[in-house]
Amino acid sequence: MKIGDTYHRSITLTENGRGIRIIDQRALPWELKFVELHSANDTATAIHEMWVRGAPLIGAVGAYGLAMAIVDDPSDENLAHTHQQLFETRPTAINLKWALDAVRDAVHDLSPAQRADAAYARAAEIAEEDISLCKKIGEYGAEIIRQLHAQNPQRPVQIMTHCNTGWLATVDIGTALGVIYTAHDAGIPVHVWVSETRPRNQGSALTAWELSQHGVPHTVIADNAAGLLMQRGDVDICIVGADRVTRNGDVCNKVGTYLKALAAKAHHTPFYVALPYTTVDASLATGTEIPIEERSAEELTHFTGPANDGCLTRVRMTHSVALNPAFDITPAELVTGYITERGILPKI
Ligand code: MRU
Repeated sequence: MKIGDTYHRSITLTENGRGIRIIDQRALPWELKFVELHSANDTATAIHEMWVRGAPLIGAVGAYGLAMAIVDDPSDENLAHTHQQLFETRPTAINLKWALDAVRDAVHDLSPAQRADAAYARAAEIAEEDISLCKKIGEYGAEIIRQLHAQNPQRPVQIMTHCNTGWLATVDIGTALGVIYTAHDAGIPVHVWVSETRPRNQGSALTAWELSQHGVPHTVIADNAAGLLMQRGDVDICIVGADRVTRNGDVCNKVGTYLKALAAKAHHTPFYVALPYTTVDASLATGTEIPIEERSAEELTHFTGPANDGCLTRVRMTHSVALNPAFDITPAELVTGYITERGILPKI
């Protein structure tokens, strides 16, 4: 990831090698704030309160959280307890369970004294693998963008995305945004329509900030403007990420994805989902079985932003009861293809 002219990663180890340093994403785009997590409890809070978010990053941070718990107490009981504690922080993104299972399985047959080092080694592998998966996804996906540009060289390829799927949502590079960065870095002209992604505004607050840092041309739109832009022919392709994809190819992703997919179908706009294998849940047949996280209604009823003095302030936007499902399901038949580390797949 590039912030200013400096390369960063979403996770780095602290000096003693036992904690992790992350970006507190709640402060963006106003402030770039790094914080350290030193315990499983810190980690659980950071995931639940969305200091970190995005399916692959939640997985990698969760893996380190389980390793931190093992340093404190390597017993089977603590391993099972902390696995469950971290798993419950966010129920929808399957990458979290995948990563927690991976750390648990790596230490399960070891003696208590051997467990901590093995857990950190597995967590580091998960983080490194995430970067290489994103790199491959980016390379395969960029070919689609290259072809679209060849078909219409008069204008930059117009890409619509939703939520945040970039280096803030992964350990580095990103999935759907990784495709866009790879295409941009290869010299293919692109322009990104960034939907704001109410209610947490991952689009306008995070994706737009990332794209600015990387110098990628983009425009923020209200979520509800997506249909109009597709109807007008202003969108060549939609690319989104995923929190969980089931055996039949149904895609669970940030709420609002489904409406974009419906509009894309109506206007013959290709609709691609970029994901690593760690986002596939082969245990579920269809998307209707996925638990949809329901978050606090206050995310909808209140808005936080800087006041004139620069201090973050919170304003209420409605007095009514609100419902805040955080994800939705896009049926497989609306998906043109899946951009994966194994190539572009018509089916998962
Ligand atoms: O609630 P969030 O911000 O964690 O949701 C993130 C998304 O929905 C992303 O699209 C998804 O995790 C893919 S990130 C590569």
